[in-house]
Amino acid sequence: MLRALLSPEAQVQPLRDGVVTVLPPDRRAAAYDRLAPGYDLLVGSRIYNRLVWGSSPAHYAQLAATALIEGHGPALDVGAGSLVFTAEIYAATARPLILTDLSGAMLGRGARRLASKGRAIQTRRHLLLQADAAALPLRDHTFDTVMSWGFLHLFHDPAPLLAELRRVTAPGGRVHLSVLTLGGGAGDAVLRRLEARGEVYAAAPAYWLGAVRRGGLEVTDRAQEGHLLSLSAALR
Ligand SMILES: C[S@@+](CC[C@H](N)C(=O)[O-])C[C@H]1O[C@@H](n2cnc3c(N)ncnc32)[C@H](O)[C@@H]1O
Repeated sequence: MLRALLSPEAQVQPLRDGVVTVLPPDRRAAAYDRLAPGYDLLVGSRIYNRLVWGSSPAHYAQLAATALIEGHGPALDVGAGSLVFTAEIYAATARPLILTDLSGAMLGRGARRLASKGRAIQTRRHLLLQADAAALPLRDHTFDTVMSWGFLHLFHDPAPLLAELRRVTAPGGRVHLSVLTLGGGAGDAVLRRLEARGEVYAAAPAYWLGAVRRGGLEVTDRAQEGHLLSLSAALR
């Protein structure tokens, strides 16, 4: 069932336990492969999230749970990473779910997390797929729920990513995003430091809301918890 959501030309190959890829061998290494163990320890930590971002893993998980409860049919997470916040929610959903990321190491961790929740992975309900978000190997207008958590701020120009998210969203479907923003708190210094290393783009909430609108999406709900802006949008 899940393979039917992929573009007909997608060449899917096994990558590692529980993860498949559409990338050729010379494009399978990614920056986050090296960061994956530290990412889970630091970014998954409640204290780090409270002190730096003024938010919490429970909040991130709640966003994913709400997105999945509100829709029906196939769902997609782009830049899903290691599922450090979402594995429990994704393991529990009955909806078909494709989880994509550029990093096989991050997805490998995600596959193990899903398995540890007692769910068989690579079943007909979950597909963990290494792919570039700029060229998703997915059919047009397919997913009723498209999610991307903590990912948009990696892009100085989010227009190509937003165009891809829009392309794969089914008519009447919804796009759910979260993004780290400047906001005057402790996280501003961290965002600026990551930006200096070329890892993120540090911008205020208004910038991201404008980008989403310019990307052809109508924001219907939004919330700000600390530095984390979350929003739901419909196709315009
Ligand atoms: C900050 S992490 C967020 C991961 C996850 N959504 C979370 O909330 O923990 C960003 C993720 O984006 C992935 N990534 C970076 N560039 C990408 C690209 N061009 N296409 C797909 N994934 C990408 C990284 O490998 C990493 O797993």
